[in-house]
Amino acid sequence: MPRTGLRVKSPDQLVAESGADLEGHGLQRTIGPFQLVCFGVGAIVGTGIFVGLSDTVAKAGPGVIVSFILAALTCIFTAFSFAELGGAIPVSGSSYSYTYATLGERTAFLVGWCLLLEYGVSVSAVSIGWGQYLNELLDNTVGWRIPPALAEAPGHGGVVNVPAVIVMLLAAVLLVRGVRESARATAVMAVIKIGILVLFCAIAFTAFESGNLSPFAPEGIGGIGAGASLAFFSFIGFDAISTAGEEVKNPRKNVPLAILITIGCVALIYCLVSVAALGAMPWEQVGGKPAALSLIVNHATGSTFGSTVIAIGAVVAIASVVLAVMYGQTRILMSMSRDGLMPRVFERVSPKTSTPVANTWIVAVVFAVPAAVVPLDVVLDMTVIGTLAVMAVVNICVIALRRSRPDLPRRFRVPFYPVAPLLGVAFCLYLMYGLPLLTWAQFAVFLLVGAALYSLYARKRSRLALAGDAAPAKAPRSL
Ligand code: ALA
Repeated sequence: MPRTGLRVKSPDQLVAESGADLEGHGLQRTIGPFQLVCFGVGAIVGTGIFVGLSDTVAKAGPGVIVSFILAALTCIFTAFSFAELGGAIPVSGSSYSYTYATLGERTAFLVGWCLLLEYGVSVSAVSIGWGQYLNELLDNTVGWRIPPALAEAPGHGGVVNVPAVIVMLLAAVLLVRGVRESARATAVMAVIKIGILVLFCAIAFTAFESGNLSPFAPEGIGGIGAGASLAFFSFIGFDAISTAGEEVKNPRKNVPLAILITIGCVALIYCLVSVAALGAMPWEQVGGKPAALSLIVNHATGSTFGSTVIAIGAVVAIASVVLAVMYGQTRILMSMSRDGLMPRVFERVSPKTSTPVANTWIVAVVFAVPAAVVPLDVVLDMTVIGTLAVMAVVNICVIALRRSRPDLPRRFRVPFYPVAPLLGVAFCLYLMYGLPLLTWAQFAVFLLVGAALYSLYARKRSRLALAGDAAPAKAPRSL
């Protein structure tokens, strides 16, 4: 019998369990490939490009283009790994489930724990960004801003961030009303946000001056590296596609395909936005500015009309990210709850709406707290470090699964194996290296709390362990 933390759940068991749930009270397969790509774009494009671009520029200067390429490469290598794992183990739960099937229960729990940063804390960050653009829009249209006391975190001139809390609660209302409706809304919003970014490029390129792009790396290689860590935030969310595995038609084919199409399109548009933005305006005037895309459009056209359109687009775009990322968080908690590693309330699906109602509300209320009182840069950095740690583990999972289950049918295989997943790990570590020391310290404390919860709570309640105790001959405990 394996040591407790090394309990591994076989891929066959994961898929069988998801099928069993579908026949019973579980989720329905309603999402097709186009909807899935829109869902992916909806989950990815948001605060990172609309709000975070100026902070990335402040670190990297015109070299931000390289920062975006580095972040995109990290995502592409990791997306290959997600595609292989998503095609081999097509169930909800994403990196958490893949880790359970390869590296064992303790690591899987810690991955699930880090996903609270990638999804939960990320929702808080995205909601804060949404509030900033809402204020910009109000200012442009009615000449009034929400007072800082009600729109900023303590320490940043505020008391509580009300708009961020409101958008989270609205997203929860939509999500509990059903996946079909939410996915459709996300798809429409994805089209709008790509349209807005293309419009931005079209306007900004009219003011393009190549001289603005030099010097190319005023802060050196280190600045470009630090920029890449921050730029990575703009790509977070592509793996939300694989967390919807249980609700996708023909998931073995559609999940890997949708991941690759989505990340390719998003990388292309980010690079175009960066070149257009910095060609139109010197980097020193963009770096660190709020609502930078609106600012650049103002500069290029000399009127506020374009910037208002961009602000409307940003408000819509960022709201859709809140929706998609919150959805991902509820499905991960559902998977962990089914395994006994989280309280059972997270796995309950309402017979009326076929959605996890209590789960959704708990997520919305708990993560509204950091949205209300923690500054944006802190939640951004915590999201990035947690996500990169998870991505590094996912790349390792591909190698582990190839070794332990070479026979498992795979609709997609990582090219240039094992170089690609190893490069994926290396890129993740490089981007983590670019984060501040304080973020590392906060992350270490977060991991210690997770490890303690696993030992004191989850390890004893694991259904895999209980099944093993009750019926050791039948339970397929290991690969
Ligand atoms: N990638 C998402 C965003 O930029 C988290 O808002």
